[in-house]
Parts: sequence; structure tokens; C-alpha cells
Amino acid sequence: MKNLSISSRIKNYEVNFINNIQDALQEEGKDDIFVIDKFVNSKLKLNRKKIIISSSEREKNFSNLNKIIQKLLNLKVTRETKIISIGGGVVQDVSSFLSSIIFRGIEWHFYPTTIISQCDSCIGGKTSINFKGYKNLIGNFYPPKKIKIDTGILKYLKYRDVLSGLGEMSHYYCLSKKNYKFFFDNLDKVHNNKKILENIIYKSLKIKKSYIEVDEFDTGKRLLLNFGHTFGHAIEKTSNFKIPHGIAVAHGIQMALFFSKNFGLLSDKKYFKMSENIKKITNLSPLKKLNLTKFIQNLEKDKKHNKKNYRFILTKDIGEMLVYEISKKMNIKKILQRYFNNAN
Ligand SMILES: NC(=O)c1ccc[n+]([C@@H]2O[C@H](COP(=O)([O-])OP(=O)(O)OC[C@H]3O[C@@H](n4cnc5c(N)ncnc54)[C@H](O)[C@@H]3O)[C@@H](O)[C@H]2O)c1
Ligand SMILES: [Zn+2]
Repeated sequence: MKNLSISSRIKNYEVNFINNIQDALQEEGKDDIFVIDKFVNSKLKLNRKKIIISSSEREKNFSNLNKIIQKLLNLKVTRETKIISIGGGVVQDVSSFLSSIIFRGIEWHFYPTTIISQCDSCIGGKTSINFKGYKNLIGNFYPPKKIKIDTGILKYLKYRDVLSGLGEMSHYYCLSKKNYKFFFDNLDKVHNNKKILENIIYKSLKIKKSYIEVDEFDTGKRLLLNFGHTFGHAIEKTSNFKIPHGIAVAHGIQMALFFSKNFGLLSDKKYFKMSENIKKITNLSPLKKLNLTKFIQNLEKDKKHNKKNYRFILTKDIGEMLVYEISKKMNIKKILQRYFNNAN
């Protein structure tokens, strides 16, 4: 099976692709505490000390952590206890953050069960907790010691979560000249070909690894991993989070391509090729009409912008992303209107 080692300044850790999550879980320590997604729990047999999480953004609220810490205490958590986290990004964020603060940090292992968590969030070490209306306001870096990926568990995912996973992966593949074609040529095969799905997830992690290992704490090169995300986050927010993250990112990529062409970075030919590919995802979940004024307000809140300029991650070609500054005096509403009228 495939595996990857991640070098981190906090701790080095391992990603292993496994055949059977049920068997692998039995090998975890008898006294460890399992934090598991409610749906996944219904599919696995797990007679262990466990805390079941209904994955939703509410569950990631700072105020909700009280309850979970109490449950950990009831289950007699000690400095030696490991937290075994099984689920998607929500379960990951809750268990990683709690593992980082309990007794100033205990070991945790992660079994990601959504495409997004397998192809992306399981590495990089970020923990993120919501506070009141602010998503991911509180957090730190605290990677798990071990990550075990069984792509077999993905067979239960809803269609929109599969699409969201593919959307999220597409931004990694846009960053990779070497793997771009492989991804977009094989997109339609992931549903019925486990080998291809596993390969696509593995390569996505490899691309992310190449960025996080040089910029672990997200200051320079890792910014480019935000390709499609400045627009994507604004789409998510404007839809009140009804549009899943990865689907919003795919639409965000399409917008970033349109902006890149508009500012003369991307030739018509390259624009056509890249946007035809991303449409393989976005056409399966087209954007309903967004409130443009609200969308721009949300876009303006992105942390990357500075006082005078917007800062977007745009592109000159596959794998040639750059941070591009646009004066705030520029009327971006006009460009967006053209986008919504023509390109979408
Ligand atoms: N820490 C990070 O680096 C990081 C990165 C990206 C996203 N995130 C966070 O992750 C969250 C989103 O994560 P997500 O997309 O993995 O979703 P999720 O954890 O919200 O899960 C989505 C849905 O899928 C269900 N589910 C989980 N595994 C399943 C399976 N195998 N089959 C069927 N259903 C399953 C869950 O019960 C839930 O209903 C967001 O809160 C986001 O902020 C964190
Ligand atoms: Zn993302």
C-alpha cells in the first residue's frame, strides 16, 4: 500500500493507505478514546471508549468544547491516552484542537473518512474552531502522529460530498504541471475505480506535501494553495454555507481563471483549456444566482488583501500561480458582472 512521510517542525508523521479501517482500528490501544463521526459510527463496529460527534459547523463551536472535554474526563483521559479520531474535517478539527490543549498536548491518530479530509486536511496540521459567527477563528498547528486512509469508506458518501472532494482536489492539480492531465482525464472514473480514486487522493497529498514542507506555517509559498479559495470562500459565505466547500472552490477556480484572462495573465487558449476542465466539476453543480453586493463584501473580507490592494491568487498557466495585486480603486464589480453574464 502507498504511504507518505511528512517532515514537520512540530513532529514528523506518517500517512498510510490501508485496506480495512475496521481491522486497523482494533490495533489501537485499549485505553485510547475514539472520537467518531455519528454516521461513520453507524457503519463500523466499535466497542470502545468513544465520543460520537454529529458533524456540523455547530459542533466546532468553542462553546461546545466544554461538553466534549467533560466527556473526555468522564472517560478518564490521562496524559498517556491517545485520541483516535475517525471522520471528516469537523471531527478532525475538534479532536486535533482538544488533543493540543489537554494536558498541554496528547497524541492523536486520524482516520479521515471524507474525500476532503483524505486528500487535503489530514496533512498540514491546522486545527480550527469556530467562535460565535466566526468560522475557524481559533486554532493552532497540531498534526496527528499517524494518519490511516481507507478509501473504501468513501463508498457511503453523498454525491455532493464526492463532488466537493473532487472540487477541493482540483485546486491542487491546477498547481501541478506534472499531474494536471492525469486528474482531469480520470475524473469520470473515480466513482467505480478504487485504484484510480486512491491514486488521485495520494497524488493530491503529495502535491500538498511539497508546499507545506517548505512553508509549514502558511506565510509564503503556501499562499498559492489558496488558488480558487479567495473567491470560493466568498461563494460559500454568500450562500450561507449551503454550497459545500469543494464545490465553491471549483467555482472559485473558474472565477480566478476569468480574472487571470481579464488581467492579461492567461492567454485565450490556456483559459479555454483550463476552464473546460474545471467545468467538468462545476457543470455538475451550477451556481444559482448569488447576491453580487454581498459576494463582493465577503470577497473584500479576505485576510490576504492589504489596505490599498486586493490580493488574489491568479495564474499564468497550469502550475504557474502567483499573488496578484489589484488596486481597490478598480471596479471589480464590472468584471464579476461580466463573469456572471458570460462565463458561468
Ligand atoms: N484543519 C484543516 O486543515 C481543515 C482543512 C479543510 C477543511 N477543514 C474543515 O473541515 C470541515 C469540512 O470537512 P468535511 O468536508 O470532511 O466534512 P464533515 O466532517 O463536515 O463531513 C461531511 C458529512 O459527511 C458525513 N460523513 C463523514 N464520513 C462519511 C462517509 N465515509 N460516508 C458518508 N458520510 C460521511 C458526515 O457525517 C457529515 O454529514 C469544515 O469545518 C472545514 O472548516 C479543516
Ligand atoms: Zn479548501
